[in-house]
Amino acid sequence: MIVLGIETSCDDTSVALVEDGKEVLSSIVSSQIKVHAPYGGVVPELASREHIKNIPVVYQQALKEAGITLKDIDLIGVTVGPGLLGALLVGVSFAKGLSFASGIPFVPLNHIECHIQSAFIEYGDKIQLPAMAFVVSGGHTHLFYLNEKKEIKLLAKTRDDAVGEAFDKFAKMLNLGYPGGPIIDKLAQKGNPTYKLPIPKMSDGSDDMSFSGIKTFLLRTIEKEGDSLNVENLAASFQKTVADILIGKVKKFLKDLPAESILLTGGVSANSYLRKRFKEEFEDKFFVPSPKFSTDNAAMVASLAFERQNHLGKLHQECFPTLFF
Ligand code: KG4
Ligand code: ZN
Repeated sequence: MIVLGIETSCDDTSVALVEDGKEVLSSIVSSQIKVHAPYGGVVPELASREHIKNIPVVYQQALKEAGITLKDIDLIGVTVGPGLLGALLVGVSFAKGLSFASGIPFVPLNHIECHIQSAFIEYGDKIQLPAMAFVVSGGHTHLFYLNEKKEIKLLAKTRDDAVGEAFDKFAKMLNLGYPGGPIIDKLAQKGNPTYKLPIPKMSDGSDDMSFSGIKTFLLRTIEKEGDSLNVENLAASFQKTVADILIGKVKKFLKDLPAESILLTGGVSANSYLRKRFKEEFEDKFFVPSPKFSTDNAAMVASLAFERQNHLGKLHQECFPTLFF
């Protein structure tokens, strides 16, 4: 079964064609980084306009690269949230239009679940359930439990900033550009974790996480140290603290919940230091998608749509767009 995936939840316009949930025939991502970079973050209105401009082009390119036409597509999967409302609307409208005109059914999907699915594109045969899955992105820092049936339960999440947001704001404080994640990742490779950052604890004893205190610490340190600041060491210290928090959280839950696999997904999972630390800790149980499937992409959307279609069988065969919106 060939599935068309559409993803426009934030600042990447993505269309992919995936066969049977695993074989990626094409995965096109048109990044808007250049448009948003001067503002140091994503400007929602600009993102919507860029998606409108880009989506027909990206769609055509995805078809061309896969060497197929609309007639060959069996199902459409589209991200319906969470994300920027105007941006999501572009992808959803495109999917609805395509579905309505062609009669191909479509499946609405949750962006966070799509990120979890990103690990299954390449490692679906190896990942054993139950599993723990961290989604670490610009908007989310959520730890989930996947039971034997792959049903998802939230275990813990950030109460304030997402970890990707902390990476982005850290780079912004230093005027290093946007998005901050890859920039901090590179800087940290030249540094040592000499700074001691605070590890936040919830006063109500909850397992949730917080990154806003770390952000404040970074700002204070940058202001206090001025020219004597060792940026590389601060970046390395920040990453070490993030890794300690995330790994510590997984280990805490592992005491009570059995897990055969540990998944790290979302844009921040492209981070080289995090990947290394998780691998050292969880060895063969650890799975992380290739960086191209870590950040926003539509292959993960198409892959999840395929799975949902299999689960729901006939119901979705009969689906028409008006059922959903
Ligand atoms: O999943 P994603 O593409 O979009 C959202 O759903 O948010 O994640 C984007 C986030 C940004 O905050 C970006 O700075 C971060 O992923 N990111 C990284 C790296 N590459 C992207 N963070 C740390 N290290 C990286 N190498
Ligand atoms: Zn995302």
